[in-house]
Amino acid sequence: MPDPDEFVVTPYEVRGHIDYARLRELFGTQEVTPELLAKIHHVTGGELHPLLSRGIYYSHRDLAALLDGFANGKPFFLYSGRGPSGPLHTSHLVPFDLCQWLQKRLGVPMYIQITDDEKFWARTLTREETVKWGMENLYDILALGFDPKRTHVFFDSKSIAALYPLAIRVARKVPYSTVKAVFGFEPSTNIGLVFYTALQTVPCFWPSWAEGRSVPCLIPCGIDQDPHFRVTRDIAEGLGYPKPALLHSQMIPGLLGEAAMSTSGDRPENALFLNDPPGAVERKIRNAFTGGRATVEEQRRLGATPEVCSVWALWRTRFAESEEKFQEVTAGCRSGTLLCGECKSQLLERVHSFYRHHAQAREKVKDWAESTIITAAPKAL
Ligand code: TRP
Repeated sequence: MPDPDEFVVTPYEVRGHIDYARLRELFGTQEVTPELLAKIHHVTGGELHPLLSRGIYYSHRDLAALLDGFANGKPFFLYSGRGPSGPLHTSHLVPFDLCQWLQKRLGVPMYIQITDDEKFWARTLTREETVKWGMENLYDILALGFDPKRTHVFFDSKSIAALYPLAIRVARKVPYSTVKAVFGFEPSTNIGLVFYTALQTVPCFWPSWAEGRSVPCLIPCGIDQDPHFRVTRDIAEGLGYPKPALLHSQMIPGLLGEAAMSTSGDRPENALFLNDPPGAVERKIRNAFTGGRATVEEQRRLGATPEVCSVWALWRTRFAESEEKFQEVTAGCRSGTLLCGECKSQLLERVHSFYRHHAQAREKVKDWAESTIITAAPKAL
């Protein structure tokens, strides 16, 4: 019998019921405390993004020091990425939403990595597919409102000349035994993936390399990506670069509930893809797993459980734009005054409106998306 408490979180596999406090201990990361949130609130000029105030970003490495540095005049840059294996869904936006908000508040540069090579090595996609999805995903990400002047993209196969001089230095520092232990690679793992982590490290150091001085890096990402950056942090100082700081989010449950864990695109009904037509969005939300009771009468009497509900997860991560709305939905659910059908109707309205707005924004970024892709190294060698 599999242990019900057993869970696995690596960049290549997320499985089981995740105990987030335990995961933080296992990974050796720090807790996002009220004091740290207060610091972010202060540095960003008196506001907190809902992904922070609602506890979705719950773990970090060295964020307090990075913020103190910023407050004392030491600028940093943001870095996050996406491995293009298909269309994006709403949960994929979690790191980019936070980055966009931080960029707007703090005026900092953003580096986005699109890893068309990684997903070619890790999945059964063709090169045509990974490249096509890479560009499609990039449009969706940029459409969140990134500043064209401060946003730079590494699209691995198109940016390899820019990445490679640093990648070879990184690769020389990482023994095979490390990647085998960190990622759980098997003897049959292809050697592309063995090398790949070097490429995911490069953007952490690239601005320091380009500018010839130490520029700190902050990476908002899903906690599943932490293993890559443990490798990065181990070797950073040996190469003369600062260790990147990290801010980790929880993994967002899919629409079919935790039993169908993973937000991955393997099950189309499990997520709201950004290219879903309105009818599909409606069907998926109507069929989504909730924390509701078996009958209306029971729900009115006993209330429901937001914490297990995939619809509540959507309100929490993106669609409750104000704290009042979020509290109203949460309290109504718990007390039984808000029934699942009504909650879903209200959510649907918000989702449709986001899709309409996003489709327009996406068309506009197509004019400049290509120009953000870095193709040349700043220096020879
Ligand atoms: N490996 C990530 C994925 O599979 C993509 C990625 C590249 C990334 N660089 C990153 C994610 C930096 C977070 C932060 O989607």
